[in-house]
Amino acid sequence: MTPDRARQLLEFYQDLGFKTIYRRPTTTMLPVLPLAPAHDTLDKISQDIGDCKRCRLHEQRNRIVFGSGSEQARLVFVGEGPGADEDAQGMPFVGRAGQLLTQMIDGTAAKEGIPIKRPDVYICNVVKCRPPDNRTPEPDEMEICGQFLFRQLKSINPRAICALGGTAAKALLGTKEGVTRLRGKWHKWSGIPVMVTYHPSYLLRPYNQNAKREAWEDLKTVLHYVYD
Ligand code: URA
Repeated sequence: MTPDRARQLLEFYQDLGFKTIYRRPTTTMLPVLPLAPAHDTLDKISQDIGDCKRCRLHEQRNRIVFGSGSEQARLVFVGEGPGADEDAQGMPFVGRAGQLLTQMIDGTAAKEGIPIKRPDVYICNVVKCRPPDNRTPEPDEMEICGQFLFRQLKSINPRAICALGGTAAKALLGTKEGVTRLRGKWHKWSGIPVMVTYHPSYLLRPYNQNAKREAWEDLKTVLHYVYD
């Protein structure tokens, strides 16, 4: 984008009432994203998404999967995109991977003496429509939908974010580094600590016992950081 075009866009969004602009540290995405209008709320973001047709993912979706959980959540989990169950129900992480995620949140919290359950956190995805055949979202789809994810995160303003899998890590951190290298350490998105861990679908594969143990460790670290 040329500086003139960027200036025009910034002025346009300023006129619309946008107060905050974020720069994403990646070369594969647009460098400047106008994001959060003043006094943003999840309801407002959902209204702005509307019956979204901004990218090709709308063509085969049944439901937009916006997110679920508490608007006051201190912890937000970010997945990749809805699967078939989520697309049918309009709720994130309700299929097999979702059941594992629920077990992990509820089970780890109970074991660690942390009085929270899944409805106390917020759960959403990088893209809000199911990619055909559960393929990985394309960069332009992540870019377009990412503005709404970022507004969700900004509006909730949690103490920490847990990125589930490589797509979420890439969207938040702008990195191509794999989960194995990123997990278990703190990173940052817009000043908010981010823990990367394995996606629950990966943990469902029978030969991933080691990853399962590591994911539970990551979750323990996040839960203690947020709730102690
Ligand atoms: N996988 C995801 O990344 N998100 C969901 O909502 C369900 C499965």
